[in-house]
Amino acid sequence: MALQPVPAEDDTPARSPVASKRSAARRRETQPGPVSTASPDAADSPWHARFGPLLTEAEARLTGAEPDFVRMADLQVIPMPNGSLSVVEVSRHLGFPVHRAYFISDVPVSEGRGGHGHKSLRQGFICLKGQVSLLVRRNGQTRAIRLGQTPQAAVVERGCWRDLNDFSEDAVVLVLASDEYDEADYIRSRSDFETWETGQVPVTSVPYLDLTRQIDEIGPEIELAMRRVVKSGRFIGGPEVTAFEQSFASYCGTGQMVGVGNGLEALSLMLRAWGIGAGDEVIVPAHTFIATALAVDAVGATPVLVDVEPETGLIDVDKVTAAITSRTRAVIPVHLYGHPVDMDALRAVLADTGIRILEDAAQAHGARYRGRRCGSLGDAAAFSFYPTKNLGAVGDGGGIVTGRADWAQAARRLANYGATERYHHEVVGTNSRLDPVQAAVLSVKLGHLDRWNARRRELADLYLSSLADLDGLELPAVRAWAEPVWHVFPVRAPGRRDALLRHLEECGIGVNIHYPVAVHRQSCYAGRWRDGAFPVAEGLAASLLSLPLDPTHSEAEIRFVIAAVRSFFDEAPR
Ligand SMILES: Cc1ncc(COP(=O)(O)O)c(C=O)c1O
Repeated sequence: MALQPVPAEDDTPARSPVASKRSAARRRETQPGPVSTASPDAADSPWHARFGPLLTEAEARLTGAEPDFVRMADLQVIPMPNGSLSVVEVSRHLGFPVHRAYFISDVPVSEGRGGHGHKSLRQGFICLKGQVSLLVRRNGQTRAIRLGQTPQAAVVERGCWRDLNDFSEDAVVLVLASDEYDEADYIRSRSDFETWETGQVPVTSVPYLDLTRQIDEIGPEIELAMRRVVKSGRFIGGPEVTAFEQSFASYCGTGQMVGVGNGLEALSLMLRAWGIGAGDEVIVPAHTFIATALAVDAVGATPVLVDVEPETGLIDVDKVTAAITSRTRAVIPVHLYGHPVDMDALRAVLADTGIRILEDAAQAHGARYRGRRCGSLGDAAAFSFYPTKNLGAVGDGGGIVTGRADWAQAARRLANYGATERYHHEVVGTNSRLDPVQAAVLSVKLGHLDRWNARRRELADLYLSSLADLDGLELPAVRAWAEPVWHVFPVRAPGRRDALLRHLEECGIGVNIHYPVAVHRQSCYAGRWRDGAFPVAEGLAASLLSLPLDPTHSEAEIRFVIAAVRSFFDEAPR
């Protein structure tokens, strides 16, 4: 292997003052500047003839911030009595697992390899012998690097155009790739690549949600986190779970988090930890995912339903008072769709009653009420990390957060077969755990959550501003105190929902209904409540439609949905 040490300054005769200054600066930092033309014969080479003008353009653009789509990683060079060892490690140097490696050699001197783009593949380029030039482009920025003089890997992020050129006669290039060969990931022509990266590819359909898009974005990080767990041999509990519990508690602004198996169990375990059971009543909204009510049944207590507000679908706090009886022990406000409930109003209604508040924050990771995060607003809160949630695992997961250490400990004991100390079971408990693989994945994703939520907000604002004038379409209200995180974007089309749904599906748009049947009308509750008991919830079930909204949707996709919704109301006005 012929990776050479960093050359002394006067080893490299440079042809231009710019190249000379850059090369000198680069060697001082042992990190190349934005544009390297360090090849001894750079200015004369066929590669330079081809890319020279482009480089000038690129240099002009790169006077500002350093592009983040390619970086140089110094290899670890270990000198040995009989040679040297140059090491590239996935975690330290590349940041992605390697699933494919190949060598490029014997390329005719005047020829390149032909450029191409990759949508999600990451690559590390190491010149093992000779020299080669690598040109990387993304979003109109270009970086050119001459590889071969220093023991470095050029690490190229996803979504880049790359071009290997100007091979020296003896050049051998090792390429480490984040995935195996997949023709669908290639973009072979420059104009197709530019169309793709500027999002100008015509939209012909929009999925409601495609989780593989998130994996394209952060798959390598997730894989490395999962591998960490597999390697550790700690498959139940352990440091990954503790680390996530601590970081999520502090994200929510509470002192404690207990990781559990799923959101339903987070709710029911907290109720049980409070000693709520047979003979007790818990107030829940009539419009929610069924788990909110099932959690109450699970502990043997009785769910008492309250109708909701039409504009938000959230529990109607004014109706809570009428539902309170001497048996009421708790209320579960649901921050449905990622919009917080008016917690001050709810607290005022419950003042001096001793009735506890358990937030159902399954859809509200990161949402804020008057500046405070959901999860820190009640006595305790339950989260779900179901894969489609704003913060979703790669399987089931859930968590309880609370400021009270004694309640957290009681819930943790119940979730651990009723034991604090192994084989000593103080209460009749169950087994409900957040597993370390999920915790490791969630830790990775927590680092992206605020950015993803901000993107959801942008897309929701686009819907809100583009659909506001449609007669017959009702948009979700955003209360003055709320910073919602748009887990769902629910619109209402009273009397025309099913026709709108069909129209959007015919346009190739994935839609959903959250939820088509109110809690009291579910078959599992037959006989408990009469039809018509909660008219707003029933009206919502008949009129709601959820439009696609995920951080991975492009603006063009959301505009496609907007156009399709508008065409429905324009073509078939009431
Ligand atoms: C409002 C609400 N509560 C509770 C749950 C239950 O969470 P899980 O699916 O993790 O049991 C969900 C998730 O689907 C939910 O949306």
